[in-house]
Amino acid sequence: MKTKNIVVFASGTGSNFKALHQAALKKEVPARITALISDNPNAGALDYARDHGIRDVVLPPSSFGEADGYLQKLQEILDRESPSLIVLAGYLKKIPDEIVEKYKRKIINIHPALLPKYGGKGWYGIKVHRAVIENGDEESGCTVHYVTNNYDEGPVIAQARVPVRKDDTAEQLAERVLKQEHLLYPKVVRFLLSHS
Ligand code: GRF
Repeated sequence: MKTKNIVVFASGTGSNFKALHQAALKKEVPARITALISDNPNAGALDYARDHGIRDVVLPPSSFGEADGYLQKLQEILDRESPSLIVLAGYLKKIPDEIVEKYKRKIINIHPALLPKYGGKGWYGIKVHRAVIENGDEESGCTVHYVTNNYDEGPVIAQARVPVRKDDTAEQLAERVLKQEHLLYPKVVRFLLSHS
């Protein structure tokens, strides 16, 4: 299978980015991560990229206020990298509609719940897991989906499930879900790249 370019977006720790990169190094994923884009200059994902020779791009916060600055910057980077797949891994800023349109069915995201439950604007991080526990759900999990113009609403590609245990704290549940994310995301990326 021919190696393809991937661009990853991350705002935080970057453990999914790391899992993908490790899978690519082991050739479990037929891809080369050519760039890591972040809106957060303090993202752990940036440290990982720098330590592993992956081009890192920090989007200047000054561009976020402008109507077109953010879009232009993204367009420039993506034109240059020409990715087969754009992978959002804990990226909190919205992808502009123009980019979503241009890379239709080429942008994917992972969400730490079984969508359509606990999805949409503002549903991220520990808040999701707290709500799952408060509602007494017996299972949770993660979802990989295509990115469309609305947060967490694109077509679902795959899900992995985990049990919610009786005395779980939100942190324990988050950890259990995250482990599944690290397994599911590389599998989905592999599948999509081998069918594109
Ligand atoms: C993950 O829980 C993912 O589902 C969500 O953001 C988190 C990112 O975690 N979209 P990490 O930065 O990959 O550790």
